[in-house]
Amino acid sequence: MVIQVCIGSACHLKGSYEVIKTMQRVIEEEDLGTLITLKSSFCLGQCSDAVSVKVDEAPVESVTPEEAEAFLKLNLKSNSKSAANTSHGLE
Ligand code: FES
Repeated sequence: MVIQVCIGSACHLKGSYEVIKTMQRVIEEEDLGTLITLKSSFCLGQCSDAVSVKVDEAPVESVTPEEAEAFLKLNLKSNSKSAANTSHGLE
């Protein structure tokens, strides 16, 4: 699973750095480094719904650090071995 977090101006102002830090922490704590590739991205074209994230190619809008953590942990619980293939309910 590839997760891209927008670090463009609008998303930066709405807290994209906190979303990234939270995801990095959970990935490290839960040892998800082999399942999840976390990347920053330039503007994803959803500025009015910052913080914008893409999970694989699926856009997710208005992401908070709390939602990001819940999403990662939900994927862990549901199927840690195939987290790369789960659906994206990051809301
Ligand atoms: S700045 Fe993040 S979607 Fe445009």
